[in-house]
Amino acid sequence: MKPKEFETTPPAFRHAASFSARPKADALIIPVWKGGKKVEFGASIGKLGTTLRHPMKSDEFSASKNECLHVFPSGQKESRIIIVGLGEEKKVDIEAIRSAFGHALQSISKKNVATVNVSVPQTSFLDEDDLLRGVSEGLLLADYQFEDYAQEKSKKSKIKYFTLVGPTPEAVKGLEKVRGIVRGVTLTQDLVNQNADDVTPQYLIDVSRALGDQFSSIHTSILNKKSLQEEGLGLLLAVGRGAAHEPALIVCRYKGDRSSKDHTVVVGKGVTYDTGGLDKKSNMITMKRDMAGAGACLGLLLAAATTKLKANFTVVIPTAENAIGAKSYKPGDVYKSFSGKSVEIGNTDAEGRLILADALSYACKRYKPDRLIDFATLTGAVVVALGHHVSGLMATDDKLAEDLILAGEKTYERVCRLPLVDAYLSELHSDIADIKNVGGREAGSIKAALFLREFIDDVPWAHLDIAGTASIPSRRDYIPKYATGVGVRLMMEYFENRSAS
Ligand code: BES
Ligand code: ZN
Ligand code: ZN
Repeated sequence: MKPKEFETTPPAFRHAASFSARPKADALIIPVWKGGKKVEFGASIGKLGTTLRHPMKSDEFSASKNECLHVFPSGQKESRIIIVGLGEEKKVDIEAIRSAFGHALQSISKKNVATVNVSVPQTSFLDEDDLLRGVSEGLLLADYQFEDYAQEKSKKSKIKYFTLVGPTPEAVKGLEKVRGIVRGVTLTQDLVNQNADDVTPQYLIDVSRALGDQFSSIHTSILNKKSLQEEGLGLLLAVGRGAAHEPALIVCRYKGDRSSKDHTVVVGKGVTYDTGGLDKKSNMITMKRDMAGAGACLGLLLAAATTKLKANFTVVIPTAENAIGAKSYKPGDVYKSFSGKSVEIGNTDAEGRLILADALSYACKRYKPDRLIDFATLTGAVVVALGHHVSGLMATDDKLAEDLILAGEKTYERVCRLPLVDAYLSELHSDIADIKNVGGREAGSIKAALFLREFIDDVPWAHLDIAGTASIPSRRDYIPKYATGVGVRLMMEYFENRSAS
């Protein structure tokens, strides 16, 4: 099967020199600050002011954050105007802008709208880069729709481009980077949203090969089952044993900065379906999304290559299906890891840490990176602790942790650091092997990370548990229901800040 995902690109951005010079379009978005209810335009709006006076003055609209009002004027270049509240100007931040424009976009998502004029607000409370970033990310991220499996595809025309009124042509050109990043986010979302029967380990291989074929900055290599056996990745092989699909280790190298030797390895959990194994889950309804870490890695590659990110990193994806069958690996048995450590299986549902352990120690040995970052939908415990808004971060290095926390604030893919409490390590003790893959249920996310730490050489390491954030049960501002694409924007921001410092 040839992956088609990254052939689609987000809507484009165009520039209009002034409000009166804007082109004809299907809709116009006008943002308004709360309080004065004065219309905020990149330029004077002429006669349109009279049309908007009534809705702006009536109780119909208070300009609270994210509030949208549709007006149908006559004699304008657009038949529909969306007035969107920005909330109080002095409280504005990038996220408020993302949300407001995300809501505005969402309010026309079921309408037949292909071209949109957008009046960009002006404010002294946010610098222009952040403002434009908020506007563009809000619009593009909210535009994502997954309808691969719907018989009745929405008949609306897809948005082709946004014409921005207000910013300079150079500033609008700079938004190509945002488009490239969102392209990566979309790939991640598509991979995570699709059926587990479609997104198999082989499919992830196909996507990574296609990335390698399409971009000269990406080089892909695969360890298939036979190579895994030769190399001795016994834990990855064990987890993948019961499935009809063979496990694999995907390695994609991205080289975007030839002047630097700096090298990061990013690892992503690629469990394409998690039944729990013989320790079967009672409810596995969301477990086709257990490859969201792998999805984030592939989206990151696409975003990096599209935007020509100045960084060098290698993505390592251990991928397997945790299935139930005659060949499934067994609770109570002991399996040998790539690192040489033997692992007693206390629970076959703690499979993510097993395949990550092999991938992390393989990455340390083969690539000797400057730092190691992994993304994994690893524990239900992190969902209990932090919910769907915040990912769990556990790290052996303070600088790395701080940089990721900062990138999380900027992108609003927030992360919260949990401590690696050494005392809990004793719970992973095994009487028959070097280590056991589970401890008691308290502090489950930390114990999972402590298990992983046993497989890492002395290299700065950060682990992001995205079990709660990779997929959300209902739409949130500009983030659609289910796959969020978390990790792509976070890592792009992290790398960009590194290359800038
Ligand atoms: N894939 C799950 C974690 C998960 C839970 C992801 C909820 C997304 C939403 C993971 O493989 C798992 O099953 N973890 C177990 C570990 C336990 C057996 C120690 C868990 O969290 O219950
Ligand atoms: Zn599991
Ligand atoms: Zn899992």
